[in-house]
Amino acid sequence: MIEELLPPGVTSSEAFDDAAPAPLFPAEAALMEGRRERRRRQFATARACARRCLTELGRPPVALLPGPGGAPRWPSGVVGSITHCEGYRAAVAAPASAVAALGIDAEPAGPLPEGVLALITSAPERAHLAALATAYPSLPWDRIFFSAKEAAYKAWYPATGIWLGFREATLALSPEGTFTTTLHPSVPPPVDPVYEGRWLAGRDLVLTAVARTVRAPAPAMISTPGPS
Ligand SMILES: CC(C)(COP(=O)(O)OP(=O)(O)OC[C@H]1O[C@@H](n2cnc3c(N)ncnc32)[C@H](O)[C@@H]1OP(=O)(O)O)[C@@H](O)C(=O)NCCC(=O)NCCS
Repeated sequence: MIEELLPPGVTSSEAFDDAAPAPLFPAEAALMEGRRERRRRQFATARACARRCLTELGRPPVALLPGPGGAPRWPSGVVGSITHCEGYRAAVAAPASAVAALGIDAEPAGPLPEGVLALITSAPERAHLAALATAYPSLPWDRIFFSAKEAAYKAWYPATGIWLGFREATLALSPEGTFTTTLHPSVPPPVDPVYEGRWLAGRDLVLTAVARTVRAPAPAMISTPGPS
């Protein structure tokens, strides 16, 4: 499913259960020691997905340990993102030469827990969601909204190291399956704070993805000698 949201050049791998063997590197297994079985399984399956992405990129499989802020440390020259929720695990990766930032998020489709929407939205965002819910009542707009902000955060954080709350982002969703998130850090943003993404809902899941491709350098100016 997740590949539907990604531009060419981004590899992806997903799983809907933990049935396939998903061996961990010793450092990863040590990290999971004492954790609940459910967490160990989702961590392992998502790592297996991530290593499949690396293989597709022609990279050797390596341990993917969390770095600062919990973001996975991908090998040098690779950007990627990981998500897992009930019934879904996925990873995406791309060469850093082609893609500057990646963020994915998965959520169970369905309403957010009581009280969460008020914490993650501004009044104009709530009006935007209410209008979408009136026009397209079958879609879980609140969940899509929540997931899209998390996907943008996962793309933003590895590049900046700046934590952002949900109220430090403004999000507009389009019923056509796209969204735009504008982040408002309290410091001057070190990278472009506007993230474009895509969403989809199906199989009782909501998936969102943000992929910022590297812009080709502007063509060099060719100066022609003027009349002397
Ligand atoms: C980090 C966060 C986005 C993870 O989302 P989640 O829905 O709880 O969990 P998911 O399963 O989708 O994603 C978890 C994976 O995200 C990745 N991740 C964790 N922290 C991350 C970070 N700071 N940056 C990028 N990726 C991160 C990890 O790979 C993690 O899986 P792992 O621990 O097995 O490696 C969320 O817990 C959080 O802290 N949100 C608050 C910040 C935010 O979203 N702000 C929105 C406004 S910009």
